[in-house]
Amino acid sequence: MTDHSVKTVAVLGGGTMGHGIAQVAAMAGFETRLYDIDQKLVDLALARIDENLVKGIAKAKVTPEEKRETTARLRGEADLGKAVDGVDLVIEAVPERIELKRAIFGRLSELAPAGAVLASNTSSLSVAKIAESVADPSRVCGMHFFNPVHILALCEVIRADATSEATIDRARGVAEAMGKTPIIVKDSPGFASSRLGVTLGLEAIRMVEEGVASAEDIDTAMTLGYKHPMGPLRLGDLVGLDVRLAIAEYLHAELGDERFRPPELLRTMVAEGKLGQKSGQGFYDWS
Ligand SMILES: NC(=O)c1ccc[n+]([C@@H]2O[C@H](COP(=O)([O-])OP(=O)(O)OC[C@H]3O[C@@H](n4cnc5c(N)ncnc54)[C@H](O)[C@@H]3O)[C@@H](O)[C@H]2O)c1
Repeated sequence: MTDHSVKTVAVLGGGTMGHGIAQVAAMAGFETRLYDIDQKLVDLALARIDENLVKGIAKAKVTPEEKRETTARLRGEADLGKAVDGVDLVIEAVPERIELKRAIFGRLSELAPAGAVLASNTSSLSVAKIAESVADPSRVCGMHFFNPVHILALCEVIRADATSEATIDRARGVAEAMGKTPIIVKDSPGFASSRLGVTLGLEAIRMVEEGVASAEDIDTAMTLGYKHPMGPLRLGDLVGLDVRLAIAEYLHAELGDERFRPPELLRTMVAEGKLGQKSGQGFYDWS
C-alpha cells in the first residue's frame, strides 16, 4: 500500500543530486529543508535551484506561480538539528563514503523524529551497512535518484533485510508524488540499474577490444536493433569512464563475479586520461 502521509522532507547535501532532489520535492508540494555543511554551500544549492526554475520558465515547463510556490516551500539550513526537526522523511545525498554516511545516520538516529523515514541516495553502498548506525534500522531504506533529478523519471527504492514495509510504502509514496516511477529493489551491489547497465557497458568494451565492430557500430546495434535511446559506449563516455571503472571494480569485488572484471581497454583508457566527454576523448571524440 502506498503511504501519502509525508508532508515535510529534509535533503542532506546540496550538490549535484541534493539540489535536484530538493527542487523536485518542493515542486511536488513537500515542505523542504535543504541542508549542507555551511551557509555558503546552502546558498549555492538554492541558487542552482533558482537557476533551474528560471530555465524551466523560459522553456514553458514551469509557470512563474509554480516557481514562487516552490521557492516558498524551500528552506536552506546549515544546522542539522534544525533541518530535520519535525520532518517525516530525510533523504541523504552527501558524498559516496561509507564512514561519512554512517556518521550522519548515527546523528539522524538521535536528531530526527522517531517516526521519520531515513533514506540514502547512495548509488552503490550497502543500505544495511549504513543502517547499522541507526537504533531502529527498520526505518532506513535507499531512494536512488538519477541525474539530472528533475528530468530522469526513475527512483530505485532499496529494501535492506531490516527495512519495514511501512518504510517502503512511504518512500514509494514520496517518489510517486515527485513524479517518479519507483521500483523496489533488494539491497544488493549495483541494485538493479547499475548492475545491468554496467554489464552491458563492459561487454561493449570487450567487443571493441576483440575487434568485433567499431564503437559507433556497436552503439548502433543497440540504438537501432534494441531501441535503446543511446548506445552503451556513448553512455559510458557521458557518465565518465573513470566512474564506470570504479563501479566495475566495486561490483567485481563485492559480487566476486568475473563478468564485472574491468576490461584492460577500460583501464588503459582511464590511465591515459581518456575519460569520455569531460576530458574531450573517450570512445568518441568530444573536443
Ligand atoms: N552524481 C550522480 O550522477 C549520482 C547519481 C545517483 C546517486 N548519486 C549519489 O548521490 C550522493 C551525492 O552525490 P553527488 O554527485 O550529489 O555529490 P556532490 O559532491 O555533488 O554533493 C555532495 C554534497 O554534500 C555536501 N556534504 C559533504 N559533507 C556533508 C555533510 N557531512 N553533511 C551534509 N552535506 C555534506 C557537500 O558540501 C556537497 O554539497 C552520493 O551518494 C552519490 O553516490 C550520485
